[in-house]
Amino acid sequence: MALIIDGVAVAKKLRQSLAAQVAAEKLSPGLSVVLVGEDPASQVYVRNKSRAAEEVGIVSDTHRLPSDTTQEELLALVDQLNKDKKIHGILVQLPLPKHIDAQTIIAAIDPEKDVDGFHPINAGRLSLGLPSLVPCTPQGCMILLGEALSDLSGKRALVLGRSNIVGKPVAQLLLQANCTVTLAHSRTKDLPEECRRADILIAAIGKPEFVQGDWVKEGAVVIDVGINRIDDPATAGKTKLVGDVAFAATEKRAAAITPVPGGVGPMTIACLLKNTVESARKSAAG
Ligand code: GUN
Repeated sequence: MALIIDGVAVAKKLRQSLAAQVAAEKLSPGLSVVLVGEDPASQVYVRNKSRAAEEVGIVSDTHRLPSDTTQEELLALVDQLNKDKKIHGILVQLPLPKHIDAQTIIAAIDPEKDVDGFHPINAGRLSLGLPSLVPCTPQGCMILLGEALSDLSGKRALVLGRSNIVGKPVAQLLLQANCTVTLAHSRTKDLPEECRRADILIAAIGKPEFVQGDWVKEGAVVIDVGINRIDDPATAGKTKLVGDVAFAATEKRAAAITPVPGGVGPMTIACLLKNTVESARKSAAG
């Protein structure tokens, strides 16, 4: 049976370490979260982010804007937050309403305050192997991998999903850790065979229980980024959360696997706080 990597415990340890750093260094980190519209999942994320920030000693404020907010209004808010010396991290929750161009908004955020690591400057620096603010979910994946593997060097890593938020940046981080990286996606030929070659499998495609147990190599380490809500056949009318990996079958073959919920999810928020503390530290150093 596989080691179940406890993301809740690892995230808690990281938050405690961040709280200790904030106190010891007398930092006053400020995080601004911007939420446009009423997407229910986004509302939950934003609430969780604010609560976790306060626990660590980060002052967080949330700007809730109506769904008919114009791109110009949102750009004006970003500009105001860029200029605010008390704010070290700006996060604009995605997805944005269709009439707003997300890339335009992301590019308007001061790269030094881009705690999502989505700005072209940060994405470019990451791809060049230069210091940058690194996207939160990929950072969380790497920390959880470290719980199961002390050295990633030479391992075959398969990343399933090519999003800018997870797939592409996590592929860069795995490459920096000296893995041999394959970035697979919906057009990849013979995906099960690609998966079976992988010592490390990162699933980030947003399809419930898509990766089958017999696609997974014996002894592989599996990081499941998916958070999918499906009808629960065990309890009529109720729903449950599942990942992108068929957990029960995979657990029998893998050396280690992250659960859903309780795996990557809590790490994303902890890494957002880590980026905010790092940004505040850099700002304090001048
Ligand atoms: N929506 C889903 N994940 C994320 C994330 O990591 N950052 C932002 N800003 N929006 C998201």
